[in-house]
Amino acid sequence: MAPSVLRISLLLAVLRVTAGQSTTSEDSHCSYMLKLPEAECGRTLVDEQYMESSMIALQTQMTQMNLVTNNQTEDIRKLSKDNEKLRQKIEAGNQTEHIQKLTEENEKLQQRIASIETGRKRSVVNVKQCSRRSHGDGREYGLIFSCDFVKKRNDTVLRVVWNGDLRLIDTGPKGGSARRWFFTINGKECSDPRTIDTQLHVSDSDSDNHRPAYVEGYCRGVAAGDVYVAWNVGDITSGQSGYKVGDSHTGWVATVRIIVEEVDVESADTVIV
Ligand SMILES: *[C@@H]1O[C@H](CO)[C@@H](O)[C@H](O)[C@H]1NC(C)=O
Ligand SMILES: *[C@@H]1O[C@H](CO)[C@@H](O)[C@H](O)[C@H]1NC(C)=O
Ligand SMILES: *[C@@H]1O[C@H](CO)[C@@H](O)[C@H](O)[C@H]1NC(C)=O
Repeated sequence: MAPSVLRISLLLAVLRVTAGQSTTSEDSHCSYMLKLPEAECGRTLVDEQYMESSMIALQTQMTQMNLVTNNQTEDIRKLSKDNEKLRQKIEAGNQTEHIQKLTEENEKLQQRIASIETGRKRSVVNVKQCSRRSHGDGREYGLIFSCDFVKKRNDTVLRVVWNGDLRLIDTGPKGGSARRWFFTINGKECSDPRTIDTQLHVSDSDSDNHRPAYVEGYCRGVAAGDVYVAWNVGDITSGQSGYKVGDSHTGWVATVRIIVEEVDVESADTVIV
């Protein structure tokens, strides 16, 4: 109960008591706790009547006070409703801010992914060239030249290149000679997707033609770490036997080289076939 309502209730209680005494004194009502208009004090009134009208006036006042109080309750209810709405609005605002922030971050990430993917189409991660001047090797079987490499990642592919001249002399008299030159990576030929090699076949005796050679290919599935890349010579692909070994020679006077590249390609499974 609001203090003002309490005060009026007390007043009413006092008025009820004094009205019950039914005093006949002319001015007695002027000394009551309730302050009455000046004009009222000069008039002769039956106290009881006066008290009654005063009580009605007070009750009306109290009703009004109650109405005000009720209105305040209503106001409070309204205010708390507004407050709740505001709180929700603030929360929504926060969420909007949050969503905006997330959207921005998402956009940045997508841009990053796009730039990485653009870069991934083909970017060299790591490269090494091993070369030697006037490296000539007359063998018919085995290792000719090699290059050590350190592969940085598992998810990259290896590009290997041989550059240097090749020669094969047919040792006659008939049927021809053939040799195969091939890369090995860590002692094995590439199988993913396939071998990186070339062959020479000659059927003219004593043909001593040195040919420039540029052999290269991509190989998947080479693990990160030390990689031993080698250029070798040997028999031609199985299933085509019957040719003489001949007299092969690899490299002569000019420079021979092996180039090894670690390459990041977009979707190695579909790009390297
Ligand atoms: C209480 O509020 C209503 C409107 O909400 C108004 O019409 C009425 O006059 C108010 N009562 C008092 C006593 O203020
Ligand atoms: C946003 O929300 C956080 C936590 O939910 C709160 O601490 C902060 O005051 C809110 N900011 C606004 C502007 O409402
Ligand atoms: C490469 O893969 C192997 C086997 O899964 C793993 O042990 C190694 O840590 C990987 N290396 C790099 C650099 O990711």
